[in-house]
Amino acid sequence: MDKQKSLMNYERNSPWTIGEIGFDSQHLGKSESIFSQGNGYLGLRATLEENYVNQKRDMFVAGTFNKFDNDEVTELPNVPDVVGIDIKINDIELNLNQGKISNYSLDLNLKTGELVRKFDWQYRNVYLRFVFRRFVSFANRHLLAQNISIENLSDIAADIYLESGINGQVTNSGSQHFSEGIKVQHPNNILQMISETTQSKIRFIQSTRLIFTEPTQIKRSLVAMGRRKIFQKISLYPLLKNQKLSFSKYSTVFTSIDKDAETTSQDQLIDQARFFLEKLVGDSFDKLFNESISAWNHNVWEKHEIQIDSIDSTDQLSLNFARYHLHSMVPSHDARMNIGAKGFSGEGYKGHTFWDTEIFMLPYFILAYPEIAKKLVTYRFLGLSGAEKKAKLNHYEGAQYPWESAWPDDGEATPVWGGIDIVTGKPTKIWSGFIEQHITSDVAYGVKQYIDATGDIDFAYSKGCEIIFETAKFWSSRLSYNPSEQLYEIKNVIGPDEYKEHVNNNAFTNYSAQWNIYLAIELYDDLKNNHSSVFEDLNNKLGIADYISDWREKVKKIYLPKPNDKGVIPQDDDYLNKKVIDLSKYKSEDQVGALFDDYNLKQVNNMQITKQADIILLFFLFDSLFTKKIQKINLDYYLPKTMHDSSLSLSTHAIIAADIGQTATAYDFFQKEKNIDMGSFMDSSNDGVHAASLGGIWNSVVQGFGGVRIIDGILRIEPNLPEAWKSLTFNIFWKNNRLDIQEFPDRTLITRQSSTDSTKIFVSSKLKEYELISGKKITIPKENIMEASK
Ligand code: BGC
Repeated sequence: MDKQKSLMNYERNSPWTIGEIGFDSQHLGKSESIFSQGNGYLGLRATLEENYVNQKRDMFVAGTFNKFDNDEVTELPNVPDVVGIDIKINDIELNLNQGKISNYSLDLNLKTGELVRKFDWQYRNVYLRFVFRRFVSFANRHLLAQNISIENLSDIAADIYLESGINGQVTNSGSQHFSEGIKVQHPNNILQMISETTQSKIRFIQSTRLIFTEPTQIKRSLVAMGRRKIFQKISLYPLLKNQKLSFSKYSTVFTSIDKDAETTSQDQLIDQARFFLEKLVGDSFDKLFNESISAWNHNVWEKHEIQIDSIDSTDQLSLNFARYHLHSMVPSHDARMNIGAKGFSGEGYKGHTFWDTEIFMLPYFILAYPEIAKKLVTYRFLGLSGAEKKAKLNHYEGAQYPWESAWPDDGEATPVWGGIDIVTGKPTKIWSGFIEQHITSDVAYGVKQYIDATGDIDFAYSKGCEIIFETAKFWSSRLSYNPSEQLYEIKNVIGPDEYKEHVNNNAFTNYSAQWNIYLAIELYDDLKNNHSSVFEDLNNKLGIADYISDWREKVKKIYLPKPNDKGVIPQDDDYLNKKVIDLSKYKSEDQVGALFDDYNLKQVNNMQITKQADIILLFFLFDSLFTKKIQKINLDYYLPKTMHDSSLSLSTHAIIAADIGQTATAYDFFQKEKNIDMGSFMDSSNDGVHAASLGGIWNSVVQGFGGVRIIDGILRIEPNLPEAWKSLTFNIFWKNNRLDIQEFPDRTLITRQSSTDSTKIFVSSKLKEYELISGKKITIPKENIMEASK
């Protein structure tokens, strides 16, 4: 495939800016995704004000799932667009595909969330300078604002005409999720559209208003309505040479599932939305923007600070990029919602939540923003009824979590049919919703990590324990007995490696299922012996006493694939007997899934080809069960067979390579991982950014190189800084206490911030335990780290 010219610019000497240096209407998908904006409630793809054939206008509001028709699964509906503005100058429509563009830049400031586009445009008798600014407010989650300035650089006057409003003619790639809306024009040119999703009946109240710095510039203004559309047509007085015009567009969205809307009637909601925009009239774009900046600082940047002193400034930039997106997409305002695999940056994966949350993003929130992590794990508690429904449907007990989740209690949301099969010419069946079952123990794993880090006993007793018991019930009912081996097996699954379907005894699945049941047994004993009233309540609700002997009996007999004589752990029963082929041709492609140009999934299933970290992930979750030697042997064995065709793969490889002391290799994985979205390949992010890989960037830095892990309930810090880094400085939260950590090649310093909290806190490093005393700094010397890593 031809390598495309990259327009991306990451070298602005700022760790907080990513930019695009040229305009190419053939590759809008990349910038639309990576420059997307959001505040966890709503998110906006970075489409431009003017229209282009290849653009994909998308705006989503968390949790507002709808099912377009019975044969489809629910998805986040693409909300009527407010960003588009048609601009005509002397009857010529602004369109960058024609004319001459100079001084072009498109920059996203990752710290403030502002997107700025600048260019001079010369076409026929028109020569103008444009500046477009835009932010999604972090201070008020319902608000997004644009500011546009146009300066006349030509010798003749420019007649400017604008069309701006709310456009409901957008769809999710053809699926229209809304009924025709009610359109209203209020005084002060506030336009409103009230639309309702067709199946879930969620009402959206969208309002917008244009505000001119000099209202006298308006010659004529009319409001028009079209099908699914309300808009204002504005003609302005001629803009003379060197004159500048500036206006803002404020838009809001409220929905009937907003927590604060539950007790409010539709009419009241409409009025509230209108008053909200009326009140904003006196507030300048900059004032609103500054409020948003303060909220970013206060809620995000000041709570968790992290600094990499590296010879490569894009290391820090990629970390900031990842964190910016994670906070744009996490619905921290409402536990009924979770993070979609593409956030709000595109229609990929329909806004659904996967194990991506628990294994790849939750660690960041647990250690840096425990209050947000609590919301994410609470979502899984709210999802218990859906998971119980799924288990029952499949004749299992307890809770079987859906592979893809939407509204928490909906149950399974994975589509059944996917892309074309190159051999049969028919759609490929997606088996994940049926047999990719490790999600159930992944959820329990996330819950346990959250409780370990926070000590949040309230959550544990009221929600977490129930998840652990119900998931253990599922696993024990899922096991099948092999009488000749006298072992319990787990047959017919997909493990993390989705290129292997219908396998028996996927190692990751078996180990994690056993861990889940052990955890339930431990918890059962602890509650029964030490917290009898909690035990009684849970037992009354879940009948756990009826299960305990079954768990005890089965757990020890679960078959766990062990290293063979060469030290290789079989990924599943058949993997090691399959054919090995040379994958170098496919690995050198930028595009993921290049393999499928030559093979179908059935053929790939029969070869030793792994889509993403599978066995390697086992080491990440259950480090203490495997020696470093075994980890190394398996990394060496599986790496040449691993395509990294999922963006979840590289971060796990980076972490395990760092763990086993191969920091140069780990750093190399990290460099590749940075490029998944930010890199030069212009088509990598068309469907949206890769949320799990963004979490993975932080994981590689803090859990991998920084060596911070929660292992068997204990905080372990064993850094492995790459050569390119002089230091890594950050803070985390452990049992409600802030720990400031500075890692250097020769030592690690940890300070527990002063507080009145008397909880005893320990950190372990290379088998030594250190107590962290409030207000005191401890130093862990390199000698200890070196010595113990042997
Ligand atoms: C990966 C899954 C992942 C999903 C969503 C798939 O390509 O194989 O592990 O959960 O994408 O990110």
